[in-house]
Amino acid sequence: MRILLFFVLLQNFAYAQQITIQNSKNRQITHLNGDWNYIIDPYETGYYSFHLDEYDKKSDFQMGAFFNNYHSANKNNLIEYDFDKSPKMRIPNDWNTQDEKLFYYEGTVWFKKSFDYTLAKHKRLFLNFAAVNYQADVYLNGKKLGTHVGGFTSFCFEISTVIKEKDNYLVVKVDNKRLKDAVPTTNTDWWNYGGLTREVSLMEVADAFIEDYSIQLDKKNNTTIAGYIKVNTPTTGQPISISIPALKKIITDTLGPTGILNFSIHTGMGAIQYWSPKNPKLYEIIIDYNGETIKDRIGFRTIETNAATILLNGAPIFLKGISIHEENATGGRGKTIEDAKRLLSWAKELGCNYVRLAHYPHNENTIRLADELGLLVWEEIPVYWTINFKNPATYHNAENQLNEMIDRDKNRASVIIWSMANETPLSDERTFFIKNLIKYTKSKDSTRLVSAALLTQYSNGVNSINDPLGEDLDLIAFNQYLGWYGGNLEDAETIKWTSKYNKPLIVSEFGGDAKQGLHGDKKERWTEEYQAYLYIQNLKMIDKMPHLAGLSPWILVDFRSPRRLLPGIQDGYNRKGLISNKGIKKKAFWVLNKYYLKK
Ligand code: GCU
Repeated sequence: MRILLFFVLLQNFAYAQQITIQNSKNRQITHLNGDWNYIIDPYETGYYSFHLDEYDKKSDFQMGAFFNNYHSANKNNLIEYDFDKSPKMRIPNDWNTQDEKLFYYEGTVWFKKSFDYTLAKHKRLFLNFAAVNYQADVYLNGKKLGTHVGGFTSFCFEISTVIKEKDNYLVVKVDNKRLKDAVPTTNTDWWNYGGLTREVSLMEVADAFIEDYSIQLDKKNNTTIAGYIKVNTPTTGQPISISIPALKKIITDTLGPTGILNFSIHTGMGAIQYWSPKNPKLYEIIIDYNGETIKDRIGFRTIETNAATILLNGAPIFLKGISIHEENATGGRGKTIEDAKRLLSWAKELGCNYVRLAHYPHNENTIRLADELGLLVWEEIPVYWTINFKNPATYHNAENQLNEMIDRDKNRASVIIWSMANETPLSDERTFFIKNLIKYTKSKDSTRLVSAALLTQYSNGVNSINDPLGEDLDLIAFNQYLGWYGGNLEDAETIKWTSKYNKPLIVSEFGGDAKQGLHGDKKERWTEEYQAYLYIQNLKMIDKMPHLAGLSPWILVDFRSPRRLLPGIQDGYNRKGLISNKGIKKKAFWVLNKYYLKK
């Protein structure tokens, strides 16, 4: 039995190589989008083992399981599932909005996709998931490739030795149950969209391929572009080159056994057009190695703070932002380029130069569009409210999601802030947990600012920001809800704010619900007039805050939440949007727009 166990572990290990392949979009890709069969499995019968009749005796434990896509040759067999007779849904998609039986469903759904694939000689094949919410157990041709936890970051498995020319069957068990020790935990204010929520694709690469790279402006010298390129299983002596045609620069070198090329490209003064919201200049980067060419479009800029000022390319910048959840026009999980255009073009129309992508890493289309449109980005992991700060496994999960978020977006000029957490209640464990995340982030990426959306403390008439995390954060961000969850809007101009830190201050949330089209007196909650008045008053107060460097009011668009149940007003939506889920702007949209135009 021990040998068998060892073999099973080895087998699992052999296939569970999870690496992040940089710029998955610009590889030789075969999309597995389209119709997938699915089986809803609330009682977890997918692993159920049972005895088959005589001739099927071999490894009966495996034969009964869904991941074997078993088809009984004999009608007398006790087989209680059949993917090919099961319903289909279009992937990528959340399941909640594709099948009304799954609208509120939280549990396991098994997905199956069959396909043929001819892998060329001297090539390797990876199976890439842009995101699966929340846990994915992945099997190809009955073999376990591995498990991934975390609903908003990409992962891939090598399948070079498992793929067949014909009749591959890919089975993915997806479980979106909310769990106390997960990240996020059981309590959130957004819809728990489950499933294969972003693209699933096959990525064919050379036997020795460009696995990763980081290309940025040198922090110490803004006329130098520096970074590294990492090759997987390098063949020493092979030439590698990186070129930036628009700067007429090319570097060619050979790789040592480490497979890593560290490089610096020196340009003259004034040669580089720095990326900024006003001029989102992106340079084409071309990397050639071992017969493969990878292209990317990268912007070069610096971001830093000086006391309480944020400096972009050395000049002060005020972050005119808005918070955004990743939802599409039909009230499902956003994922496509059109979904990204819908949200970010509204942010531009609002007069923003900055967006807070809440409360989890959004899909890559949105980040790349922000690069193109010139929107600065705050990206965050879902360390949200009351996660279990005492559990080391919870910490490992949060750090892994942070790692995968940074790996995917470290070459995106628009991303200037990595945020560790949102509204986490003060405790020693929580502060220790998040200080470790900050340390980890800075060790992985020293070029961006680190923040977290904090809660504030209120005592005898003064609101203060003295969260111990402030010592380690580059930016102090906090959420406050004057006029919605407390306080009187009439006091707005007299309320005092103090910050313990001489650091830039961002109001990462404020707002109030309004049902679009509901009108009344400006003192009447839930009306558009009340929301507009709330914005007018909050903006007066915010303008007087010490070290104010930006804001991202809550929120651009109404979004689904199982907590928002007021009939006729919320109906399952959080109505703090400046735009309704039907895409209609409310009065407060123009209040904020006017404020930004003046800023
Ligand atoms: C909180 C939280 C948001 C939530 C919002 C609200 O601060 O950060 O996720 O949706 O407030 O209550 O509407």
